[in-house]
Amino acid sequence: MKEGHNMNKERIYIFDTTLRDGEQVPGCKLNPQQKLKLARELQALGVDVIEAGFPISSPGDFEAVELIAKEIRNTTICGLSRSIEKDIVETARALKYAKMPRIHTGIGTSDIHIFHKFNSTREKIIERAVSAVKFAKSFVEDVEFYAEDAGRTENEYLAKVCEEVIKAGATVLNIPDTTGYCLPHEYGEKIKYLIDNVKGIENVILSTHCHNDLGLATSNSIAGIENGARQIECTINGIGERAGNAALEEISMILKHRFADTYTIDINSKRLNHISKLVSEGMSMPVQPNKAIVGENAFAHSSGIHQDGVIKKRSNYEIIDPRDVGVDQSSIILTARSGRAALAYRAKEVGFNLYKDQLDIAYGEFINMADSKKEVNENDLQLLLTKLFPAIAS
Ligand code: KIV
Ligand code: ZN
Repeated sequence: MKEGHNMNKERIYIFDTTLRDGEQVPGCKLNPQQKLKLARELQALGVDVIEAGFPISSPGDFEAVELIAKEIRNTTICGLSRSIEKDIVETARALKYAKMPRIHTGIGTSDIHIFHKFNSTREKIIERAVSAVKFAKSFVEDVEFYAEDAGRTENEYLAKVCEEVIKAGATVLNIPDTTGYCLPHEYGEKIKYLIDNVKGIENVILSTHCHNDLGLATSNSIAGIENGARQIECTINGIGERAGNAALEEISMILKHRFADTYTIDINSKRLNHISKLVSEGMSMPVQPNKAIVGENAFAHSSGIHQDGVIKKRSNYEIIDPRDVGVDQSSIILTARSGRAALAYRAKEVGFNLYKDQLDIAYGEFINMADSKKEVNENDLQLLLTKLFPAIAS
């Protein structure tokens, strides 16, 4: 993996699983060439690990992982496998040409999974976990172990599993909240419990992998980091199974903005808006307009009070400069809730620098139009102002 930079700050590793957990979503499937193109973008974005796919799942996914492993040199390339020898063999084969290969293997550790999915026992699950890690280790040095459904796994047993897979050679321990069950303090406490109780934990990286079933994936991931995890698994636009995974763009901006003195990441945030659009278009998965950081309305202001404040000083109503995430500027949207400040601002943009009495006249006309439309767009505004003030327009 890439090395850390600032000695005074803790390096947090960003593990992107858009091409694996994200691509599992119905309708989001990509062909190998599409996956390769996104992998190039993820490398340019600066992620530390790309989980490129699940090679045993289909010949197409095998090919995608192999293509990515052959070309991408600055990022660790990871492939997923269950704790099954033939999965691990296929994953190792697909990663053969990677400069920095990682096998991600694991098994369910909650009692629900042990008894109702594997029809097994806690002891046998540890045996399977240990032999999978040892087997993966015979192919690559970097082996990540996932304890599926760790969110619902009893901490004492989870610690035992972790201790055994560390002894078997795991380099990274993934603690997934597979079902998005945990509350932030519970997930944070789980990570802290492992840090305090697992022998050898100081020699591995603890990773978060949080799902969003209760809308807590990002909060839980941050709670994990605050309690000692050093890798976050996440996806662009938060796509992933069911309600999705923690969103990479949210995680990145939280760490950059609110933990700037404590943690450092390698993400070039100016590329976030661009890659969000590529993923959304490529996977035919629209981004909700109010989505944090990358939604269409993330930097749009439409009520009069907010517009007036933003026009006076952007930071009155924005905590992030839109240019930091690759959005050119904040937008002032004209609706029936807009005030004179917004109208004057937008009028100026289309070439009408209005005096106060002109603005009063224009505002009366504008508000009537706005009441009959959801939004008064640039074209509407131009027509309205040209009709009212032909001398300025000419
Ligand atoms: O959510 C999960 O537990 C996973 C594992 C396969 C890592 O995606
Ligand atoms: Zn997952």
